[in-house]
This record gives sequence, C-alpha cells and structure tokens, in this order.
Amino acid sequence: MMETYRPIEVLAGRGIRVLDQTALPHSERYLELRTVADLCEAIQRLQVRGAPLLGLCGIAGMAVAASEDASDSGLQIAAERISATRPTAVDLGAGVRRALAAALTTATDGRSERLWTLANEVTVAQRAVDEALAAHGAPLLQGAGAVLTHCNTGALATGGRGTALAVIDEAWRAGHIDRVFATETRPLLQGARLTTCELQKLGIPCTLLPDSAVASLLESGAAGAVVTGADRIAMNGDTANKIGTYGIALAAREHGVPFFIAAPTTTIDPGAGDRRAIPIEFRASEEVGGYGETRWSPEGTEAYNPAFDVTPARFISAIVTELGVAKPPFDVSLRGLLESG
Ligand code: MRU
Repeated sequence: MMETYRPIEVLAGRGIRVLDQTALPHSERYLELRTVADLCEAIQRLQVRGAPLLGLCGIAGMAVAASEDASDSGLQIAAERISATRPTAVDLGAGVRRALAAALTTATDGRSERLWTLANEVTVAQRAVDEALAAHGAPLLQGAGAVLTHCNTGALATGGRGTALAVIDEAWRAGHIDRVFATETRPLLQGARLTTCELQKLGIPCTLLPDSAVASLLESGAAGAVVTGADRIAMNGDTANKIGTYGIALAAREHGVPFFIAAPTTTIDPGAGDRRAIPIEFRASEEVGGYGETRWSPEGTEAYNPAFDVTPARFISAIVTELGVAKPPFDVSLRGLLESG
C-alpha cells in the first residue's frame, strides 16, 4: 500500500536521516542527525514528530548514543535526555527503554551494532503494524460518508502507512467514505500543512477547516464519523492526543457522531491507570502568537499552550489497534488486547 512520505531512514553506524516536517509543504528537506544533541533538537522542534515515529526515534536515538559512548552511564544519561524531549507520547520513552535494555544485556563493544540492527527491525515492523491497524479499522467507517480527522496521523507520523489516516485510506479504497474533513490543528498546523498533503498524494478528497468550525461541522451532519490518533492511552481508555481532540469528542457526542481512536498497542500505557497518570507537554507562548517568522501578537504575550489534551474514555466509541478493535468497557477490552499480543 502507498506510503506518502519516508520520514525516517536509519543510516546504520552513521546516524538518522529525517524529513524536516517543519519545512512542509513548501520543501522536502532532509536532515542528518549524527549526535544525541541533534536528535533531541529535531524532536523538540517537531522536525520529526507523531507518536509511533517518536518511538522509532527513541530506538534509533539510542543507537546514535551507543555510537558516541556505549558505556552504561553514557547510555543512561542519553536515555534520560531523549525521553525528556517530549513527555506525552508514550512510544518515545518506551522505545528508549527497550533499546537501553537491549544494550545493557550486550557486551559494550557490540552495543552500537545491536541497537542499529534493532532500529532497522523496528522500522520495518512498524509498516506491518500500520497495515493491520488499517484493516481492522476500515470496516468501522462503512456508511460514514465523510469523516473528520485532527492533527496528522499518516506516514509522516509513523514511518509506515499511518494510524488514523491509514484507516481512512483503507476505508476510502473500500468505498466506505467519500471525503475527509481535516482540521487545521492550531497552533503548529499539522492538519493544514501535513494531512492535506498526504490526502492529496493518496487522491482522497479533502476539506480543510479551522479548528473552531468543528462543532458547527458536526452539528450540520456533514461528517458521519471522527477518527484520530493517540499519543498515550491509559488502561481505562482515557486518551491523550493533539490539543483540541477532547473538544471534538465532546461535540461528536452531543451530535451523535461516533468517535474512534486508531493507535498501535505500543501507545497503550500499562503503567497509566487513567488520565491522572498522563503527563501533558506545555510548549512556548511564541507558538501561539505567530508562526515561523510571522508574528500577530505583541512581543511578550503570554499564551496557554498545552500540546495535548485527554479525552475521557466515555466519549470514545472504539479504539482500533493492530491486534483488533477494543470497545467499551475499555478497562476490560484493552487488557484483553494486550494479553492477546
Ligand atoms: O505534536 P505532534 O505533531 O507530535 O502530535 C501528533 C499527534 O497528536 C498525533 O495525532 C498522534 O501522535 C498520533 S500519530 C499517529
């Protein structure tokens, strides 16, 4: 199946090549990340982003770290530094921990090679995960007509085919849907800059809307379902995703529109019982008062800028994973899915 972009390439022994997502849609520019410092900066600037892709970056980043300093203490310091760059997406820290565990059970002089191999294996495995997720999710959109999505969840966010966007693509190919409404996704515009491009490449009709038009769209009946991705899913089904997701879920409930989450099982956090255990990343005020070089608020304007919010489980109709579809009550179904894997 078509992948619209290749956002990451593991250059074993040398570093990681990533597509600079802040330059899209105007230019396809690649960065070579050769040090842990390079990687951390690219993650913090959202040049590389999206929960599953951050998981791959966590593993590849530890391979970079092992090439710089493969000692126990060197790797532990790198692990903390990489994990701290973006706290909400569980895949990042989990990827780092997985790589650290693999390194610590390998002789020091074999660690770098072991982690580069792991990074390659996980990059390949992600594609199969995305395909399975798409196949499980597409039937849920039968008869939906048009579907609303938020943020960016395509190939750019996973390195494979995507999560919610893969479900949407599969449903489009099956004739279940005829259009996608994509939110702009303020303040960093992942919907307006990235999702629109991916949908164009996939040939799927797309209508862009300001985030503030979501309630009005859902009230109008123009979208028959909502599908979004996730950055961390607690064991009771509470789900962290891009800021604005919670408001979309509230409006969807009010207007009787089903609200689906699509995410790999790596995004389910067995250590988080509910929303209270999900850390939320807050970002700089400057991101709200302008974009890039353009400023529209006076210098020094303070902004409330959480990067994510948590949608309570009771607003979610189903959670699609590569192992199957979890339905409420999620405390039972998510545990069942994890045990089946
Ligand atoms: O801040 P971002 O762009 O990394 O946020 C991404 C999202 O919120 C996505 O919806 C989520 O990671 C799911 S990705 C398949």
